Amino acid sequence: MIEAKNLCITINQSDILKSLNFQVAEGEIYALLGGNGAGKSTTLKTFLGFLKPTTGQAMINGRAVKDDVKAVRQHTAYLPESATLYQHLTARENIHYFLSLANISKTDSEVDQAFDRVALQPKARDRHMSTYSKGMRQKTAIALALLREAPIFFLDEPTSGLDPVAIDEFNQLVSELAANGSTILMVTHDVYGACQVANRIGLLREGELVGEFSAPAGQQIETELVHTAFTQKDMA
Ligand SMILES: Nc1ncnc2c1ncn2[C@@H]1O[C@H](COP(=O)(O)OP(=O)(O)OP(=O)(O)O)[C@@H](O)[C@H]1O
Ligand SMILES: [Mg+2]
Repeated sequence: MIEAKNLCITINQSDILKSLNFQVAEGEIYALLGGNGAGKSTTLKTFLGFLKPTTGQAMINGRAVKDDVKAVRQHTAYLPESATLYQHLTARENIHYFLSLANISKTDSEVDQAFDRVALQPKARDRHMSTYSKGMRQKTAIALALLREAPIFFLDEPTSGLDPVAIDEFNQLVSELAANGSTILMVTHDVYGACQVANRIGLLREGELVGEFSAPAGQQIETELVHTAFTQKDMA
């Protein structure tokens, strides 16, 4: 469903992504784990068609993203690293506005259902976003992604700014989405969170995929193992 094929991105003679190869199957949660500047957001931007591969391909459903950016955007929901929501609008108004840009129309009660799923307090929903905490803004952005009803989710640091309870709720939500057939590519530097939710983890270091970990059937990926690999300086 999602596939990187020898994917390279070079910007100003600097190799940002170095021949990435990975696949995410339908219904799978794949976490690309890496430190600051590893190339995580760049990978997502390439899959969304914001960046063109220098060589190699970013494929969705067997088609190169760059050949059909419009179709890709229709089938995907993207949670950016820092959500750009309007401060002078309420959360609900932001949702309706951004959905309208995508030609999607939802009733207030459908929007409330999405807010319920991300546990955004009812009394906050009609308040200006300028009064929101970081976690509340993140929840609004997640609700917007849910309302896109896309089969593929690209999530950039989805749990950043969320407290541990909200993180658990979010992981539960992502697992439910995958169980219902959604395909999820998330990028993060949170080893614990990735192990908790992902079926597979790819370790990205300086634009290179240096390791991959899979969850044994019915179990989680072992945090200790991934943490050791992540913090190791010189991996062969
Ligand atoms: N448009 C650009 N021009 C030049 N360099 C860029 C550009 N976009 C990204 N880079 C560089 O590519 C590298 C990877 O950036 P990227 O944003 O993908 O990292 P990241 O893994 O998402 O990091 P973080 O965890 O800090 O969000 C960085 O060194 C960054 O400076
Ligand atoms: Mg990033």
